[in-house]
Amino acid sequence: MITTMVWEHLEFDEPRYMGGFPKGYEEKLWRLLGYRDPSQILHVFGGKAKIGVRIDINPRVEPDFIMDAHHLEFPDESFEVVICDPPFSDNDNKNKYENLDAKPLNEKQWLSEASRVCKKNGFIVVRHLWNISRPPNTSLWMTILLRLNSHRHTHVVQIHIKDGTP
Ligand SMILES: C[S@@+](CC[C@H](N)C(=O)[O-])C[C@H]1O[C@@H](n2cnc3c(N)ncnc32)[C@H](O)[C@@H]1O
Repeated sequence: MITTMVWEHLEFDEPRYMGGFPKGYEEKLWRLLGYRDPSQILHVFGGKAKIGVRIDINPRVEPDFIMDAHHLEFPDESFEVVICDPPFSDNDNKNKYENLDAKPLNEKQWLSEASRVCKKNGFIVVRHLWNISRPPNTSLWMTILLRLNSHRHTHVVQIHIKDGTP
């Protein structure tokens, strides 16, 4: 059964990182998914996320690995949870995150990579401004609406489970 939840009034933690996750969001997500081992959590647009292994193309955020989300240098089925928090547009990627030489984001390609490195029955979590495509070999498990305060867009978090659905 697919469930939709609303998480209300989460504030941004912008002194930490522009566009970073709202305060308390990561902790709430780990409680929901029941995860305890940070080495099994991959952030493919890592920024300054707090819990897990972070990859990012921008060395200034001091990721664990400088890597492109479109070409993950990990073997298949390496992580139990794969978190995707991409810039909302190519414009944002250049202006907000200063990735001036970044190639255009290719949703199909980074979703396919996220699914490849996720273990069977693991979760792929995507935050965006709208519903994006389903990663290959997954089903939608849950949608969370992040209602942020102070005149901000509501964000959509989709949690997919890698159950082999083509
Ligand atoms: C919305 S921010 C992530 C914020 C993060 N969730 C946090 O809480 O700090 C998006 C990040 O994606 C990175 N990024 C942009 N294009 C990328 C790519 N092709 N591969 C990996 N990271 C990329 C940006 O440098 C930026 O740090």
